[in-house]
Amino acid sequence: MIIKPKVRGFVCVTAHPTGCSAHIQQQIDYVKSKGPIQSGPKKVLVIGSSTGFGLGSRITAAFGSGAATLGIFFERPSEEGRPATPGWYNTIAFTKAAHAAGLYAKNINGDAFSDDIKKQALENITKDLGQVDLVVYSLASPRRQHPRTGAVHKSTLQPIGAPYTNKTVDTDKGIVSEVTIQPADEAGIADTIAVMGGEDWEMWMQALGDAKLLAPGATAVAYSYIGPVHTWPIYKDGTIGRAKIDLERAAKAIDAKLKATVGGRAFISVNKALVTQASSAIPVVPLYISILYKVMKAKGIHEATIEQMQRLFATQLYNGNQPKFDSEGRVRVDDWEMRDDVQAEVSKIWPQCTTENLAALTDIAGYRTEFLKMFGFGLPGIDYDAEVEPHLPML
Ligand code: NAD
Ligand code: NA
Repeated sequence: MIIKPKVRGFVCVTAHPTGCSAHIQQQIDYVKSKGPIQSGPKKVLVIGSSTGFGLGSRITAAFGSGAATLGIFFERPSEEGRPATPGWYNTIAFTKAAHAAGLYAKNINGDAFSDDIKKQALENITKDLGQVDLVVYSLASPRRQHPRTGAVHKSTLQPIGAPYTNKTVDTDKGIVSEVTIQPADEAGIADTIAVMGGEDWEMWMQALGDAKLLAPGATAVAYSYIGPVHTWPIYKDGTIGRAKIDLERAAKAIDAKLKATVGGRAFISVNKALVTQASSAIPVVPLYISILYKVMKAKGIHEATIEQMQRLFATQLYNGNQPKFDSEGRVRVDDWEMRDDVQAEVSKIWPQCTTENLAALTDIAGYRTEFLKMFGFGLPGIDYDAEVEPHLPML
């Protein structure tokens, strides 16, 4: 079939297999161009490996350190007349490239919150890898069925305490408007913590530890976001922020256990705001990202997920470096985003933004380019008018 982007609000319902493959190759080339990461991870479990920061982590581990990787993700294959999700194509492209480079790469597609997928992962590690020395936890999900209670929790993106009004942008139509989001109730807060908090990460680490699958000195890392005052009511101080506080709680608990059992370590890396499928669904944030990209590109310090993850591995986790923790014990690769000079410019642009000046004052064009790239569109060297086979089997 001939596959074109079909954008519906903040999602694109199509994805291009060879475009996704070219996007993966760009990321592999970037990691290789930065040179090998010394004393890097060798056997890695990535939970949420098919897109975004988890994918960047997997590519960095494999092509920066020659790591064997087991990837866990939840993606949909192509169905009659409908291409697969980008994470499906990304994973196939990554796995082919890893195998061609002589690297071990295996995949499990299913619900990472379930006991069954954890069991499959443990069996796979036992059989093929023996132990893992790095566990990356990078899930972003709207729902979680709790494996003990069976209850289905849905996460929300809401403020807490009071309604929140701010500017937002319809990234597809380029319209800037005001949006008011009603606050979450206690149940909404609890549900969001159940989905995006740290309990599932702890369950994974407990299961791996009980099965003796964590190598001496093993590292565990999960990702968080803080951001500037403009987005605090919807992010840091909202329902998702509460879940991230719980993720930090889990990091400390896992760290204590890893130290006591295998001499390992666990922590949170606070990453930069970037266009991903997860972030594009948050009100207000895409406008902030469009302004941020404009400012950071002008200063020559813009990074995408792969640059962020390569920098995390090369300057904080490995290469003879020790993590430089903030006062809360977190690694900060959002350091460039949060620079005073960057945020001062964002704050200057923010109140001026309107539909009319959006293209001039913000990098809405860059936002759209990066958004489409996530689905395999706009990559150089791809003929988007050509027939392409959408049915690709998972490897
Ligand atoms: P993403 O949507 O690109 O990736 C999510 C991954 O989780 C995918 O691989 C998906 O297949 C997988 N997944 C979702 N539900 C699953 C399930 N039930 N079982 C198995 N796999 C499942 O998201 P992302 O933006 O890379 O987010 C990853 C982490 O990074 C999140 O904790 C997020 O809060 C954090 N983060 C994001 C940003 C940002 O700006 N995007 C910034 C800082 C931190
Ligand atoms: Na991810």
